[in-house]
Amino acid sequence: TFPKRVKIVEVGARDGLQNEKNIVSTSTKIKLIDMLSEAGLPVIEATSFVSPKWVPQMADNAEVLKGIQKFPGINYPVLTPNIKGFQAAVAAGAKEVTVFGAASELFTKKNTNCSIDESLQRSDEILRAARAAGIPVRGYVSCVLGCPYEGKISPAKVAEVTKKMYSMGCYEISLGDTIGVGTPGIMKDMLSAVMHEVPVAALAVHCHDTYGQALANTLMALQMGVSVVDSSVAGLGGCPYAQGASGNLATEDLVYMLSGLGIHTGVNLQKLLEAGTFICQALNRKTSSKVAQATCKL
Ligand code: HMG
Ligand code: MG
Repeated sequence: TFPKRVKIVEVGARDGLQNEKNIVSTSTKIKLIDMLSEAGLPVIEATSFVSPKWVPQMADNAEVLKGIQKFPGINYPVLTPNIKGFQAAVAAGAKEVTVFGAASELFTKKNTNCSIDESLQRSDEILRAARAAGIPVRGYVSCVLGCPYEGKISPAKVAEVTKKMYSMGCYEISLGDTIGVGTPGIMKDMLSAVMHEVPVAALAVHCHDTYGQALANTLMALQMGVSVVDSSVAGLGGCPYAQGASGNLATEDLVYMLSGLGIHTGVNLQKLLEAGTFICQALNRKTSSKVAQATCKL
């Protein structure tokens, strides 16, 4: 059985754009997020307060966060890798932040220049400050179905890191197939291990579509009781520290599938398609969403 409703976390403005070589203008980012708000996405990851030396595309984080329209009932979380990023995010008006770690030592080193333990300590520092400020914190665990540097990742390792983040106080933890190598059977084994340690209501999945498995992997997670799914408009995305990783599951394709299954999302597909067209035109790029490709031929 499937959940009756699914909360979609739109990551296009962050995961989708962070890997773009050419700097996208701040006004384009703001317009994209405003269009996504219009489309009814309940959670829109707006930007990240990471080092601009590491991810130059996110250097305008404060301007983006301040410039977007804040729709009532919509959350606009931002990524924060350390306390410096957390403080900058709060100063720019963030009402929710996201910490990120991984189930792979080598990926953690490449992505945040530290070990898994150090990364968890940084997250813990943010969680303490956030608790004092009344700010909810979401968490990411990357490389849950495979790592670009270590290859296979054991479900037990994913469960261990996820449990630690949950115990520290993350209200929700998104399990990322960062490089999109997983298949539904591996998703099932990984989720079974994690669900032993953390309630399924606190879990989300975040699938990249490198091997065309994102929708199938997401469907498996829904069958197992997960009801929060990350996706990216037009299937934009990729991590600069995960070579070969392609875009996220396209939000249009997710919404189409969920609507076909009779699962409520609150998202207006037509308006979502318009947001996808807008950003693809701005990037001078073809959409990766199959639904967008199909509807534009009709
Ligand atoms: P570091 O170089 O080890 O940091 O980077 P440091 O503490 O030694 O500081 C070096 C310089 O950076 C200093 O400036 C700091 O002030 C500055 P300088 O003195 O040289 O002028 N700095 C900062 N500036 C702005 N904001 C900050 C910040 N922190 C330090 N927050 C660090 C360590 C964590 C900062 C760096 O590695 C970093 O920013 N990494 C982020 C990489 C990233 O954004 N990756 C993509 C997101 S994760 C992802 O995409 C996966 C996901 O989608 C899920 C999935 O698919 O699995 C979430
Ligand atoms: Mg990602």
